[in-house]
Amino acid sequence: MTLTYKIVVFPGDGVGREVVPETVKVLKAARDTVTGFDFDFVEFPCGGKYYLESGKEWPDEAWEACKSSDAVLFGAIGYPGAVKPNGVLAGIDILLGLRFDLDLYANLRPAKLFDGVESRILDKGPKDVDFMVVRENTEGLYVPIRGMLSRGGVDELAVDVRVITRKGTERIVRYAFELCMRRNGAPGDGKKRVTCVDKSNVLDGCRFFRKIYDEIAEGYGKVQRDYVYVDAMTQWMIRAPEHYDVVVTSNFQGDILSDLSSVLIGGMGMAPSANVGERYGLFEPVHGSAPDIAGQRKANPIGSILSGKMMLEWLALKHGDKACERTAAKIEEAVSSVLSEENIRTPDLCYGKYSGVTPSTTSEVGDAIVEKIEKS
Ligand code: NAI
Ligand code: MG
Repeated sequence: MTLTYKIVVFPGDGVGREVVPETVKVLKAARDTVTGFDFDFVEFPCGGKYYLESGKEWPDEAWEACKSSDAVLFGAIGYPGAVKPNGVLAGIDILLGLRFDLDLYANLRPAKLFDGVESRILDKGPKDVDFMVVRENTEGLYVPIRGMLSRGGVDELAVDVRVITRKGTERIVRYAFELCMRRNGAPGDGKKRVTCVDKSNVLDGCRFFRKIYDEIAEGYGKVQRDYVYVDAMTQWMIRAPEHYDVVVTSNFQGDILSDLSSVLIGGMGMAPSANVGERYGLFEPVHGSAPDIAGQRKANPIGSILSGKMMLEWLALKHGDKACERTAAKIEEAVSSVLSEENIRTPDLCYGKYSGVTPSTTSEVGDAIVEKIEKS
């Protein structure tokens, strides 16, 4: 029986329009090497540029398509000058809205350094960096309970409410422990470890988060408990990445830590992510629309391609689909083998011992990955 997955594709703005086509190309090539599943890709425009052209952030039928999808593949939003009358960046409500409305409560951001990519951190290599940030994605500081107070035309005060619930914390912490059970442990000592990152020395929400972490941890005797305050974490993650296996944290803190972790793996262009819930999944590179390099064929497509790989892993787990699982592994191997060959890389990876390499374009990197997959 062939399972056909409906994948809704939003390239969005800027480099999203360059990296997403490479991802679709790689996914199709990988699918063609196996039997057992197929894709039905349905693409929609969205974001700031579309807003300037049409007055809408996305077409009306896009939401219904997302609700009947098996997965969503997203590029990035953000177009210079595309701002709604309320001052909000056109397109951002789509992305945040999908996270909330599809209940994508777990944001997974792996920090894995590949052979052939130089870490920007002295003395740290691929054997040291392989952890997963599990960020709560539907509450915390990003719930839309906020406001500004103005008096006599003067803006006096702004409030953002931070919401931490039992339900939200239980499910994200459980997700982190379950994921840890499927992984190989921390690179430094091989121990399975879930690190709880918070600011429980100050914030009630964080004390609550940690309390629930402890409750859930009771059920996972094989996993080591670990605690660190978020401010200290910003330096430990860089100084000793090998200590970390799975890192669980609340929304805003996870957003910042996962951008920081991209420094360990070669930069924003290398960082993939998944937003998943019980029913839906949305997969996107961590980076934004990068207007500084958009349209110049310089964007690294690997963050997006590895997000596509995470999509296959998630579909595999959800549907017990072994063909999908094998396909995901093929994509990761192909990326790894292209990077190891040194001569094919976008400009963001041409530093350190690779500074003499002539940079490749976005689609040359995509083509090289496809070629490896076809030969595998
Ligand atoms: P950004 O992630 O777009 O760019 C940050 C830096 O990383 C830039 O120097 C850029 O050139 C580089 N970079 C990003 N993607 C790259 C790639 N694939 N290959 C090589 N280098 C890459 O963040 P920035 O500049 O803060 O934001 C630009 C726009 O994107 C803004 O409008 C922002 O609101 C939006 N944004 C959208 C996000 C999303 O759609 N998920 C996430 C973050 C920002
Ligand atoms: Mg961010």
